[in-house]
Amino acid sequence: MENSQVNYDTLIPNNVGLSEDRRVLKALEKWHPGYIDWWKNMGPNGFQESQVYLRTAVGVEKNGWAQFGYVKMPEYRWGVLLAPQVENRTISFGNHKGEAAWQEVPGEYRAILRRLIVIQGDTEPASVEQQRYLGQTAPSLYDMRNLFQVNVEEGRHLWAMVYLLQKYFAADGREEANMLLQRRSGDIDKPRMLGTFNEETPDWLSFFMFTFFTDRDGKMQLESLAQSGFDPLSRTTRFMLMEEAHHMFVGETGVGRVIQRTCEAMNEAGITDPYDIDRIRALGVIDLPTLQKKANLHYSLSLDLFGSEISTNAANAYSAGIKGRYNEEKIDDDHLLHNDSYPVLKMVDGKIVTVQENALTALNMRLRDDYIADASKGVGRWNKIIQKAGVEFELVLPHTAFHREIGEFGNTFCSPEGELISEDTFQERRNDWLPSSDDGAFIQSLMHPVTAPGEYAGWIAPPRIGIDQQPGDFEYVQLDEASA
Ligand SMILES: [Fe+2]
Ligand SMILES: [Fe+2]
Repeated sequence: MENSQVNYDTLIPNNVGLSEDRRVLKALEKWHPGYIDWWKNMGPNGFQESQVYLRTAVGVEKNGWAQFGYVKMPEYRWGVLLAPQVENRTISFGNHKGEAAWQEVPGEYRAILRRLIVIQGDTEPASVEQQRYLGQTAPSLYDMRNLFQVNVEEGRHLWAMVYLLQKYFAADGREEANMLLQRRSGDIDKPRMLGTFNEETPDWLSFFMFTFFTDRDGKMQLESLAQSGFDPLSRTTRFMLMEEAHHMFVGETGVGRVIQRTCEAMNEAGITDPYDIDRIRALGVIDLPTLQKKANLHYSLSLDLFGSEISTNAANAYSAGIKGRYNEEKIDDDHLLHNDSYPVLKMVDGKIVTVQENALTALNMRLRDDYIADASKGVGRWNKIIQKAGVEFELVLPHTAFHREIGEFGNTFCSPEGELISEDTFQERRNDWLPSSDDGAFIQSLMHPVTAPGEYAGWIAPPRIGIDQQPGDFEYVQLDEASA
C-alpha cells in the first residue's frame, strides 16, 4: 500500500508499504547496520552525540512535509520517501511517449537504469565524506546545523537510491548497494565514481561554493530523472528535490553572507579598491577576488559533471524514456528530437565555435546550459549584495572552456574570458584564476569555530532569518562535552 502517510513505526520510516514487502524490508534491514557504520566512520567527525536541530520528513506533500526537533545524528530517521503517485501518469518523451509510466523496470532498460541509479547514489555519500571535518570549524551553530542537515539528507538520498536497487534489481542491485558503502571520496584504490566527488572540501567557503555549484548539478540531474518513465525513480527524485532546495539555499546564502561581511568590513575601513588584498585580508575577511577564484574552481569542476557534450548514452536514455530534459513537460516541441538540432560549443581547427548538432546526442550540453542559466541567476543575486554595499566589483562565471577535464575542452587551456592559451601561459596565470595555496592558507587561518549561540565568525554575516523561524540566539546544536 503506497500513500502520502509516512509510517514511522518501522525501523525504516517509509511510505512504500515496506512492512508488507518482506523481501525488500529484509534486504534493507540487512543493509542498515553497514550504513550506520559508514555514517559513524565517514559522516561528520565528532558531534555524533550532540543534539542537532534537524528537520525530518514526516510526509511527502508539498506543505508540511518536514518537522523540526533535536536529534542525535546517528538516530536520524533516514527513510524511504516517494512523492505521491500521479494517477494515470504517462511518459512524456522518447520512443514510449504517451505510454503508461512503468511501475516495474522494463527488461531491455535494466542495465541503463541501474547505471544511472548507481551513479546518482554514489554522489550522495561522497559529499558527506568530503565535508566530514567541517563541523570542527563551523563559523556558528546555525551554520553547523545547516551542514549537518545537508549531510543527513545526502544520507537519506543514498537510502532513496538503495531502495530502488534493492526493490527493483535482484542480486546485482544488492551488490551495488553494498559497493555504495565501500567506495570512499578521494581514496586512490576505491574512489567515488565521479572526479568532482573526490576533490577536497577543505574550508567553509568551499562548502558554500560546493552546495551552490555542485549540489546544483545534483538538482539538474534529479530534475531530469524526475521526468523518467520509470515511475518509482520519478517519484523518489521528485521528493529529493524538495530536500535539495535547502542545499541550494545554504550555498547561495552562505556565499552571500561572506560577500556581505567583506563589503561591510571594506566600507568600515574606508577601503574602496577590492584588489587591495592585503589590507582587506588584514580585516579578517575574504577579499572578493579570492571569492571569484573559488567560484571559478567549483563552477568548472561542476561543469565536468555533465559529461561529454555529445553523448550517445544521453541520447539512448532519452529515447528510452528514462532520463528527460530539465522542465521537459514545459518545452514546446515533439519530445522525440529525431529531427532537431541544438547549438553545441566545440573545438574546431583550434577555435571555440558553435556547431549545430543532433539534439538527441547534445542532451548533456543542453542540461549544462540550463544549469549555467540557473547558476547565473544566483551569481546575479550575489552581485546585488556587492552593488548595494557600493563596492565596485562584479563576480562572473568563467567561460565554459576554462579549467575543464571532461568533454570538448578537456585537453585545451583557456582563460576565464574564453581565450585559448598555451599550457605554459595557463600555468603562469593559474594563481590569478584559481585559489593558490596562499589563498587556501589564508582562508584556513580564518577557520576557527564559533560555538556560542547567536555568535558568528568575523568573516561571515549572520543570516537574516533563523531556521524554522527561530530567534537569533537559538542553540541549533547542543554540543556534548566531548566535542565542545
Ligand atoms: Fe543529494
Ligand atoms: Fe544536495
